This record gives sequence, C-alpha cells and structure tokens, in this order.
Amino acid sequence: MTRKIIIDTDPGQDDAVAILLALASPELDLLGITCVAGNVPLALTSRNARIVCELAGRTEVPVYPGCDRPMSRDLRTAEHVHGGTGLDGVELWEPQMPLQDTHAVDFLIETLRREAPGTVTLCPMGPLTNIGTAFTRAPDIVEKVQEIVLMGGAYFEVGNITPAAEFNIYVDPEAAEIVFKSGRPITVLPLDASHKALTTAEHVQGFRTMGTRVGDAVAGWTDFFERFDKEKYASPGAPLHDPLVIAWLLKPDLFSGRQVNVEIETLSDLTRGMTVADWWGVTDRPKNAFFVGDVDAAGFFALLTERIGRL
Ligand code: BDR
Ligand code: CA
Repeated sequence: MTRKIIIDTDPGQDDAVAILLALASPELDLLGITCVAGNVPLALTSRNARIVCELAGRTEVPVYPGCDRPMSRDLRTAEHVHGGTGLDGVELWEPQMPLQDTHAVDFLIETLRREAPGTVTLCPMGPLTNIGTAFTRAPDIVEKVQEIVLMGGAYFEVGNITPAAEFNIYVDPEAAEIVFKSGRPITVLPLDASHKALTTAEHVQGFRTMGTRVGDAVAGWTDFFERFDKEKYASPGAPLHDPLVIAWLLKPDLFSGRQVNVEIETLSDLTRGMTVADWWGVTDRPKNAFFVGDVDAAGFFALLTERIGRL
C-alpha cells in the first residue's frame, strides 16, 4: 500500500534532496509539490522544484506555485545559507516542464476534499504559509488530513535563524500556530534531529561515485551545504534537515522522540517563532505533536544513499 503525500517546500538544497528521496521511494505516491516563499522568493522555489523533478525524469509530478509571503509578515529569506538561486552548488537550467496554473492553496483544498478522508499526509519543509492559509480558508479540510510530518522548530538546539527560533517556523509563526493548533496528528523533525544527521565528505563522495546525474547533483548540493554549515557550527559536517521528513515516512524506526505539547511564540520580537515544547511534561497543556529528539544517522544516510542510487 502506498502512502499519498503532498510535499510543501521552498527548495533549498536540502528540500531538493528530500524531493529526490520521495521520488525514489515506491512506498510513496507524490500527489503534487506545493511551493512557498522561504529560503528564496517564490519564483525561485517554484523554478527549483521543477528542476529537481526534471533531474529525476519525473516531469509528470505537478508543481504548484503557492504563497509569496507569510500570512501577516514580510518575507525573510536565507540566501546566506542556500546561495542566490536557492540551489547553489550545481549548474542550474531553466526548467521546461510547466508550472501548474492552479494556486498551491487551491490544490491543497481541492485534493483534501476529493481524496478519501484520512488518506493524505502533508509534508511541509518550509514556512507553513500554504498550509495555514488553506486551513484558514477551508476549515473543512483540516479533519481530512491523515497527518502532518514537518521539518521545523527546535527544543534543545533552540534556533538557527535567531538564537530562539528555527527558520521555517520563524518566517511564518502565525501559519505555524494554525498548524500546531489544528488537532491533526503532527510529527516534528526539528533541529534536534537534523543536527544529529550531518553530511560529511564521505557521504558527498558516496553520492559522487554513483556516476549518475542525480548522484552528481546531490553531491554538489550536499557539498555546498557542508562547507557553509561546517564553518557556522564548527562541526564535522552539516545538518541535512528536510530529507528527515521523508525518511520518517519510510523508516520511523530510525527515530525516537516524545509526544508533547508544542506552542508557537507569535508575540515576542525576541523569541518570535520559538517552538515551546513541553519536553519534560511540566504543564498540563494538551499533547499535540510527536517531537523527534534523535535519529540513527548511519541508518538515515544508508537509506538516503541507497534510494538516491536508484535514480
Ligand atoms: C530549514 O530551513 C531551511 O533553510 C531548510 O531548507 C530547512 O527546511 C532548516 O532550518
Ligand atoms: Ca526547506
């Protein structure tokens, strides 16, 4: 039985690798890719998603343009991490496959209304603007969602874009709040997990020696990421955030975490976008998310390498 998913994304090198991992995995039926402004503006994220599909030879996967700015704030981008294109590290091209005419929010609403209730998993890997907007505009779709598996937030690792917040949640905290209050099952792959799944020169070399176009691209992207983050974190490698979402769907046994309450800070300028996770259970606030704390990094990279090798 395949699982129907929608990837909501702002590619981003790590988003690109996540999309490739999904495309390489027959367990998943990718209904569409919805793009959002985040790492780079919408025009680039919706271009980059199509480049990734073309790279994998999967031009039939529909790519939808979504929201070009957060629900009630100005957009904050991250070219300092991902480069001016969002996919620096590989020589890019102008994609030939079309961008869909339908807006991502309309696609989300129409798909969740059409499919049997509880059969579509949402996989957000960027700011949660498209999902928050869809839930606000069409509250009837919320209960139709099977579950939400997202990359965002942090607890012990606290923040990467500010001392208190992780980028995806920081960019659109109002949208994140809507998602975390939705009542649907949520799994969070936070920095606490991704900072334990570091790409190293050996991984990069493993992708490069595949001798395929996809392997070369993944090597270029992970290499670019590795250089930036090694300098930033002074660590032996760089976190590969978004592919953890897909790895969770494929092999949840690689991960461990806790069912906890997570609230989103929307009021304070100092801690905007902080994911306040009640890891120690010190409140009686309702548990609304499974918050991943650890990942078997070797198992994750073995899975990723094996799947990328299929493309
Ligand atoms: C998240 O922010 C983006 O820069 C990455 O693509 C990832 O989704 C990590 O904080
Ligand atoms: Ca992302």
